[in-house]
Amino acid sequence: MNMKIQYFKGSFFHTPVHGQLEFVEEALLLVNEEGIIQSIVRPTDEMYADTLHAAKQTPDFVELAQGQYFLPGFIDLHVHAPQWPQAGVALDTPLNHWLDECTFPLEAKYEDVDFAKEVYQDLVAHLLAQGTTTVLYFATVHQAASLALAEICGQQGQRGLVGKVVMDLEEMNPSYYRDASAQSAIEETESFILAVKELGKDVKQGIYPVVTPRFVPSCSEEALRGLGDLVQKHHVHVQSHCSESQWAHDFVFERFGKRDTEVLRDFGLLSDKSVMAHCNFLNESDGEIYLETGTAVAHCPISNSYFANSVFPVKKFKEQGLEMGLGTDISGGFSPSLYDNIKQAVMSSRMLEDGVDTNRAFEERGVADSRISVIEAFSLATQGGGEALSLPIGVLKPGYAFDAQVIDIHHPHNRISSFGIFEQPAEILQKILYLATKENIRQVWVQGNLVHQKQLGA
Ligand code: GUN
Ligand code: FE
Repeated sequence: MNMKIQYFKGSFFHTPVHGQLEFVEEALLLVNEEGIIQSIVRPTDEMYADTLHAAKQTPDFVELAQGQYFLPGFIDLHVHAPQWPQAGVALDTPLNHWLDECTFPLEAKYEDVDFAKEVYQDLVAHLLAQGTTTVLYFATVHQAASLALAEICGQQGQRGLVGKVVMDLEEMNPSYYRDASAQSAIEETESFILAVKELGKDVKQGIYPVVTPRFVPSCSEEALRGLGDLVQKHHVHVQSHCSESQWAHDFVFERFGKRDTEVLRDFGLLSDKSVMAHCNFLNESDGEIYLETGTAVAHCPISNSYFANSVFPVKKFKEQGLEMGLGTDISGGFSPSLYDNIKQAVMSSRMLEDGVDTNRAFEERGVADSRISVIEAFSLATQGGGEALSLPIGVLKPGYAFDAQVIDIHHPHNRISSFGIFEQPAEILQKILYLATKENIRQVWVQGNLVHQKQLGA
């Protein structure tokens, strides 16, 4: 069988292993019809000249210019799609006020599918333009609007993992915005799973259903148990918030006499396809449960600065062996950009380590050995995200999807130059991670398809 191959030529950065940067210069990436990287040929390989010759015969050969680089597409592990209109609003209020006064009234509007489509189309396009090729989305309680989000991801070429939110407890959720009952929440989640699986059959990059209890405080035991059963039955992804804030963590403990992590595990909600957002109040024994079950953390550093008043200790839990990636947490986090969250992950880790209260003696400030490098944060946004979702994405290697962003450091609207001084590959990548904006993201590819292209001057 003669499979059609698409050829890409350029230099790329990625981290095949957490924190270990690899720079591959002038490589040829061969991508098959399924959008999977079949092989990577380097200039030192014997076949390079012949492969380049073959590439040049193809009409759709993509060759990067000088100053352009491939980076893996970014993976956002935590987005509340319906909160996109709220990005940047009311960030100075406590979480419960923010939810009750702003978020729930907004999310209730997604009963109107036309409104949902308008917002979701804008959001998905926005995220693609930021280099984000895979997103784990919370939608709302509404089945139709949640399905519309999955469809829009499919149409725009983004890899979307989408959950219909479950929040059924009467005393915790407003009457105008909650599931009618635990039973209806479970039934609707199951039909949503089946509908998204059906939809996904025709979507090259994959669209996946996600079991989504909003967080333990908003769900009845019946709903949590029923959702756990659906996970066993359909082997789907799971997402929720776990131990985000002191309040949420303590509330769960008072209700169940167990820690948030234990409750989620005991209802069957932790598996190797589970991703829990925030996790700021995890301890080492929670970490053990994450390891045993294969559960991953969505680290949301911008959001945590506002609503959790805390810093997730990335280094400590990475050393324990946990899987983790990054999340924007739109709109608990104001920015749709994982570049911004990479920077904040580094800055937050520095503050955790160095402490900020200068009235204390230096040795009494901060938590020793907490800082992470910008390359480690880049890993979280790419390789770590793929590992968290148990999908072959986030690294540019054979067998993995060709999900990539083309960064142009010479774009006239945001020229990133080191004036010939800092030209080592690691320095170039550091400058990209700190200084690149949407202007520099010239193209975005998902599963071998071009899904975003920035024109010069646009
Ligand atoms: N906990 C429950 N719901 C939410 C939400 O929408 N955002 C955040 N940050 N935390 C939550
Ligand atoms: Fe969240």
